[in-house]
Amino acid sequence: MNNFDFKNPTKIIFGKDTIKNIKEEIPADAKVLLLYGGGSIKKNGIYEQVKTALANVDVIEFGGIPANPEYATLMDALKVIKDEKITYLLAVGGGSVIDGTKFLSAAAVYDGDTPWDILTKNIRTEKGMPFGTVLTLPATGSEMNSGAVITREETKEKLAMGGPGLFPVFSILDPQVITSIPQRQLANGLTDAFTHVLEQYMTYSVGALLQDRFAESILQTLVEVAPKVLKDPTDYQAASNFMWSCTMALNGLIQKGVPGDWAIHMMGHELTALFGIDHARTLAVITPSHYKYNFEAKKEKLAQYGERVWNITEGSIDDKAYEAIAKTEAFFQELGIDTKLSDYTDNFEGTAEEVEKRFTERGWKLGERQALLPEDAKKIVRMAY
Ligand code: NZQ
Ligand code: ZN
Repeated sequence: MNNFDFKNPTKIIFGKDTIKNIKEEIPADAKVLLLYGGGSIKKNGIYEQVKTALANVDVIEFGGIPANPEYATLMDALKVIKDEKITYLLAVGGGSVIDGTKFLSAAAVYDGDTPWDILTKNIRTEKGMPFGTVLTLPATGSEMNSGAVITREETKEKLAMGGPGLFPVFSILDPQVITSIPQRQLANGLTDAFTHVLEQYMTYSVGALLQDRFAESILQTLVEVAPKVLKDPTDYQAASNFMWSCTMALNGLIQKGVPGDWAIHMMGHELTALFGIDHARTLAVITPSHYKYNFEAKKEKLAQYGERVWNITEGSIDDKAYEAIAKTEAFFQELGIDTKLSDYTDNFEGTAEEVEKRFTERGWKLGERQALLPEDAKKIVRMAY
């Protein structure tokens, strides 16, 4: 097992009818900016619950943060924060609203030339403006981690940021929120969380037995609850297991002491930036090709995953590893997620070269051994056409 530090300061308030607890978490003298997305919270009762909980708090609202949170929109919100002397942020939404809020938490205290530098120059935020979240969509784990991904339509870029100052102070996780989520977004959430675990697990063994079994148990739980969540989002047992699995998939725990890959996400972000494909779907497109391309380096772990998660008992290591890739692709397809780039766009020619060019410009070497070069990314993306 590798050495590690582990600190996660986010307070989780989990369960039925917990949105009302917001009022105990926000300082009485705070001036709050409530941030939300395209308006789903106004149709499903979440907005009302939040407003009731904040009845005695000084609150201003900023809605309209789009999926794949857009820099230009967030800069409008930053102006509100400065003009209104906001001291506390409250994100009510999925990964996009929470990530947008993290950007604002960082930008509100940043004194450089332009907040875009936080993304392009990898400026880590040691202390941001404090913020809490009310999670409305289980998927990203953003509610209990310190990372964010921001999109800039003007340049068709999608870049990551983070730092220890960007953990939410608290996050409210009421699994009942999933009852209003469209099937497409439920499938996305299952796929995203599943892939988060894979990114932190499908590398090489360092003898971290517990981390492996944490990861496998999250994968098994997602496989078990997926059909139930899709069939009946009012099934509270399924919803609560789904929500907690998504949070645990990316709150730092399972990645401690083990190598991480994350190349699938890095290639996937380019597909969202170029074509606007939903984040989770880009992962389903890249994952099978990535594992086939890096088969030799990952086959031991692929076979272990095949045995423990998919009950593949027959054959050699290679057989089990191949079968595990096929099972993974079939799982995404059963959720209703297409796994080829050409399923999403007719305009895919040249994408592999564009990804290679961007990774070369950024000097990126990816994967658990930093051995995945831009030319490898080109080949993987081309395999995914
Ligand atoms: O905008 P509204 O109207 O709220 O509608 C949203 C949006 O259209 C809707 N929705 C959310 N909760 C709902 C609901 N509709 C009905 N009922 C509810 N309860 O769902 C749509 C998608 O929302 P979004 O927040 O975009 O989805 P998700 O949570 O999947 O977030 C995706 C973003 O997170 C980033 C992705 O790259 C993408 O930008 N990620 C963030 C990560 C992190 N911070 O750790 C890690 C991930 O790998 C990922 O990169
Ligand atoms: Zn993801």
